[in-house]
Amino acid sequence: MKMMLLAGKEILVANVNGKHYAIPNRCTHNNGDLSKGTLEGNVVTCPKHGQRFDLTTGKSIQGPKVGFLKLKGKDTSQFAAKVEGDDLLIDLG
Ligand code: FES
Repeated sequence: MKMMLLAGKEILVANVNGKHYAIPNRCTHNNGDLSKGTLEGNVVTCPKHGQRFDLTTGKSIQGPKVGFLKLKGKDTSQFAAKVEGDDLLIDLG
């Protein structure tokens, strides 16, 4: 899992069992740096308040927790990514 700057945007790219996924690097809750979070399978967890995103869809599968509050998560975008030769191609749309 790694953050890349592409066209001025921070993009999080992750290699999950040889397949690459790309989503915005900043959490939809409060701009947490997802590249500093954890990756388990195809799920990335934000280091700030624990919101969890499915990298394959960009969907929030668990909202943030702030103190005792469990908030509703907000989905993020998901970009198509593929390897061609030595290049990783990401479609920012
Ligand atoms: S900033 Fe990511 S869960 Fe709050």
